[in-house]
Amino acid sequence: MGNEPGEHPTMRAPSSARVSTTMADVYQREGFVFLENLFSAGEVETVRAAALAAGAQESERRVFESDGVTVRSVYGIHEHDGRFAALARHPRLVDAARRILGGDVYVYQSKLNAKAALGGDLWPWHQDYIFWRNEDAMPAPRAVTAAVFVDDVTELNGPIALVPGSHKGGVLPYDTWNGELAGYGTSPAWMANLVARLKYTIQREALLGVALAHGVVTPKAKAGSVLLFDCNIAHASAMNLSPYPRTVALFTYNRVDNAPDIKALHRPEFLVSRDSQPIEVVADDALRLAGAPA
Ligand code: SIN
Ligand code: MN
Repeated sequence: MGNEPGEHPTMRAPSSARVSTTMADVYQREGFVFLENLFSAGEVETVRAAALAAGAQESERRVFESDGVTVRSVYGIHEHDGRFAALARHPRLVDAARRILGGDVYVYQSKLNAKAALGGDLWPWHQDYIFWRNEDAMPAPRAVTAAVFVDDVTELNGPIALVPGSHKGGVLPYDTWNGELAGYGTSPAWMANLVARLKYTIQREALLGVALAHGVVTPKAKAGSVLLFDCNIAHASAMNLSPYPRTVALFTYNRVDNAPDIKALHRPEFLVSRDSQPIEVVADDALRLAGAPA
């Protein structure tokens, strides 16, 4: 796996950095951009406190690992906590998303992926757009996800793995899983989009094709770093073998003119936003001020 420093588009960005045209070009070529230390240690502390609160709060937006007790994800986080609301609207993320997508954006989906210490489960190889196309009728692959590292991401705690350039091939041949989900009883149909046994995964031969051609990278860095990736890039993550969590907050930005028809949406609002008004950014210091939950 090629993952030496400099082999993937890493930018050591000062905290006030905006995504430059060059970075947008890199993004178009590679399908992702990695911004190290975009948020300060103090800002990360605010977000980590929000993450702990979200994981501890009972809610239908919370998804468990197949053991039924370990929190895997919490969805709709930017609608339920002022600190995540500020992060989703933060100019360092929104400016990047606007520049990458070339227009106004809104938050299509938000989630916290906990990847718990000693066993937080994997995400198999998949592309995101196939879920949003098939489940929500998103018209085109014009969405970008910002993964904000809430914990340090290391080789052992399940970094997100990506195949550079794989977004260019559009939707790759995929397998569909419609079977029973072990450990999830009579859970609703949408659960199959969120658990370790994913509904749509890239077919083995197709994955081998792109991965052997382009390699695989696993951006790793301190908490506060941000990975922006295209909705058609092939990605996955392994289980967490380390004694530390790998919490990541993910905000998917969709271009306003690419919003699905809300009349056709059937999944819950915490999985697919109905509000496609252009996002209004908060002040750059909002996370220093956003101490309390909404
Ligand atoms: C995702 O595929 O959306 C997230 C993967 C991860 O959290 O490792
Ligand atoms: Mn994904």
